[in-house]
Amino acid sequence: MKALTVALPGREYDILIQRGILSQAGERLRALLPRASKLAVVTDTNVHPLYFAKLKASLERAGFECWGAVIPAGEASKNPGLLTELWEDFMEFGLTRTDGVIALGGGVVGDLAGFAAATILRGVAFVQIPTTLLAQVDSSVGGKVAVDLDHGKNLAGAFYQPKLVLMDPDTLDTLPLPVFMEGMAEVVKYGCIWDKDFFDFLTARPSREQLMADIEHILYTCCDIKRQVVAEDELDTGLRMILNFGHTLGHAYELAGHYTQWSHGEAVAAGMCAAAQIGLGLGVTPPDVPGHISDACAALGLPTQITCSINDYAAAIGLDKKGAGADITLILLDRIGHTVPHKMPRDQLLQQLESLLSR
Ligand code: NAD
Ligand code: GLY
Repeated sequence: MKALTVALPGREYDILIQRGILSQAGERLRALLPRASKLAVVTDTNVHPLYFAKLKASLERAGFECWGAVIPAGEASKNPGLLTELWEDFMEFGLTRTDGVIALGGGVVGDLAGFAAATILRGVAFVQIPTTLLAQVDSSVGGKVAVDLDHGKNLAGAFYQPKLVLMDPDTLDTLPLPVFMEGMAEVVKYGCIWDKDFFDFLTARPSREQLMADIEHILYTCCDIKRQVVAEDELDTGLRMILNFGHTLGHAYELAGHYTQWSHGEAVAAGMCAAAQIGLGLGVTPPDVPGHISDACAALGLPTQITCSINDYAAAIGLDKKGAGADITLILLDRIGHTVPHKMPRDQLLQQLESLLSR
């Protein structure tokens, strides 16, 4: 088993990575929550038939009473209406302050269940059991929990750290290939922002089979980076911004595709390629870097370029709401494995993006 600790004083927690660990969830949680008697498991319509029974059996063997809430799969479930329903369901189940909530699923389940756990009874113990690659390398670690509003994604939320993150790489076997590769965009991002050796390791393994053969190492490396970033900047006021590499411009592509044409991972892949081009134009990123990133994304079947309008770019960088001179910090690379936060006026960034569009 591979184990990491997120070192937040008074709220530190472990990330445990092991094939088959889902069947040991009960004993692990019994050791962590000795006074708990009830655990509410939130999962979605795809994950429930695959993994709920195994988790429930393990929890019951450890003496927990377990109840499952099944939400419709997909981003649309991250809404305040379902949050309210979960609160009522938890009360119906008889959850008390010494009990807990488990998220079993991808980032949608994790964000919604985490916000429900943070707010019910002013906060109960929360455990992440992520089952997508994106959730394992990103959303289950770091405590960001949220629902979407009509005004935008993740607008109502909290920082609420889990008590434990249990990662069973075997659950990735049932992911559709595009969902797996979507998570790989975030994995490549970690190589870009932090670790060139890891980037090279990934580029030598472009197929799902090759990546799964080394999946524990991949999960461990990504979570090790994220836990260091989170431990230094839990509330996202500084270093944590580097995790947004590729995301600002990726947001323009998600907007352009009305959040349906391009998945988040696809948009991030193209966003990392565009950020490398912008960095090159600004003299920050060396000439060989954009090609390395686009080769890595292309090898995984991820897009390296997505067409969008200048208005989509303007909206994504906030130029439609903020003044033209207001600064934005774009995360750039001065080499693979190292970031440079680059502060610039929004209208200057838009000019750079305009020239990118005309190439
Ligand atoms: P998701 O939760 O929608 O899961 C993707 C799809 O995979 C869904 O259809 C789901 O039902 C299915 N699925 C999940 N596990 C499966 C399995 N093992 N086998 C088969 N199918 C499975 O999406 P996601 O990509 O995991 O997460 C995206 C969400 O995460 C977004 O809402 C995003 O805002 C959020 N997010 C949060 C953070 C954070 O720090 N909290 C970070 C990144 C992303
Ligand atoms: N996914 C970005 C963060 O956790 O800050």
